[in-house]
Amino acid sequence: MDQPAPPLADDPNAASDPAGTTETAPERLQRALSRHFETGPSPNSSDERASCVVAQAPGRVNLLGGHTDYSGGFVLPTTIDRAVYVALRASGDETVRLRSVDFDEDATFSLEAETAIEELPTWARYVAGVTAELRRRGYAPEGFEALIAGNVPLGAGLSSSAALEVATAVGLGELFSLGLGAVETARLCQRAEQEHVGVECGIMDQFSSHLGRAGHALFLDCRSLEHRHVPLPLAEDVCLVVADSGVRRELASSKYNERRRECEEAARFFAQFDASIESLRDVPEALIEKQGTELDDTLRRRARHVVSENERVERGATLLADGDLEAFGQLMNASHASLASGYEVSCAELDALVEIAQSVEGVLGTRMTGAGFGGCTVTLVRRDATEHLRRAMEARYRERFAPDLETYVVERNLKAGLL
Ligand code: GLA
Repeated sequence: MDQPAPPLADDPNAASDPAGTTETAPERLQRALSRHFETGPSPNSSDERASCVVAQAPGRVNLLGGHTDYSGGFVLPTTIDRAVYVALRASGDETVRLRSVDFDEDATFSLEAETAIEELPTWARYVAGVTAELRRRGYAPEGFEALIAGNVPLGAGLSSSAALEVATAVGLGELFSLGLGAVETARLCQRAEQEHVGVECGIMDQFSSHLGRAGHALFLDCRSLEHRHVPLPLAEDVCLVVADSGVRRELASSKYNERRRECEEAARFFAQFDASIESLRDVPEALIEKQGTELDDTLRRRARHVVSENERVERGATLLADGDLEAFGQLMNASHASLASGYEVSCAELDALVEIAQSVEGVLGTRMTGAGFGGCTVTLVRRDATEHLRRAMEARYRERFAPDLETYVVERNLKAGLL
């Protein structure tokens, strides 16, 4: 799927319209919301501004911990400076009316008729999934109108769906004073995607979008949900470069679900030898070496990846906190190798991007990010080598694969919240 033109300036609070008057992105979204839905301001309020909320939630890149979250493992993502923005106001009835600026499409559903979710366009299912999960947990959002826009590339492994879910939940939480906790919100957004979109995703993306903090990566134990923020000195002497291969695989979600089942099967195999094993997170490397020969080769490789990747995340978080970026970068390289050969979620385009980046002086580490089978790589690079890296990647990628490569520098980490 192609990325629609970003509707918002990079800094949502400092945009100015073509006429030259300064108008922030939230104000533009509020105005567009009023223009699009002709029902007028919320029936309960005479002040249109006061009745409208605008929420943002960022996408993410994952620095370490690929495909470990659904095995109860560790991850180390960081948010990016691209986000999904949702402007909402109460509709005064049971109906939800949505407008996606990026898809140039409308969708309507009734809060009471959850069965109709599968008939909605995919982007609207994320929103309907969130309202359904809120209701399932006893919250009572009322009908609303929402305008959705964003600049997280779609289907590129940068978590545009989690950003949409989280922005929706944060906005609804404020609009209807639902009193949602952050961890609870991340969980219900994950469930919205699993139940209503059919991707059996882990918790990483929703958690990172909601709990990520500026200037930090997020170390998360995906079983206990204990987490800590680890300083990431972006904008000082290093930066992150995202390279979008342009490859979008329709089959990605079925392959993703297949990997999840493989991990569960491998965990069941090892549980025969130790009843305390619930998921691959619990499997010691020695057990794989000792008993793994009896396991199907593919499942053994999946298990080795998850177990070694968890170790890399734990070590990586310590190295990052100590500022040892060289050693941290080596772990990113090792993570990619393991995802590509053991877990088999990379592809020729991602491998080429990693190989090109690794040949550029000043690159500390690089790997695929997200579910894989296409999408993006993320590269940690010394700031003074950034432009050289981008040029090398763009030129050499074009030589091997026809399409142009989109690269961009993550300048800062956005935070989810109200604008
Ligand atoms: C997708 C999922 C996450 C995680 C990653 C792979 O982004 O949504 O839960 O499993 O893939 O690390």
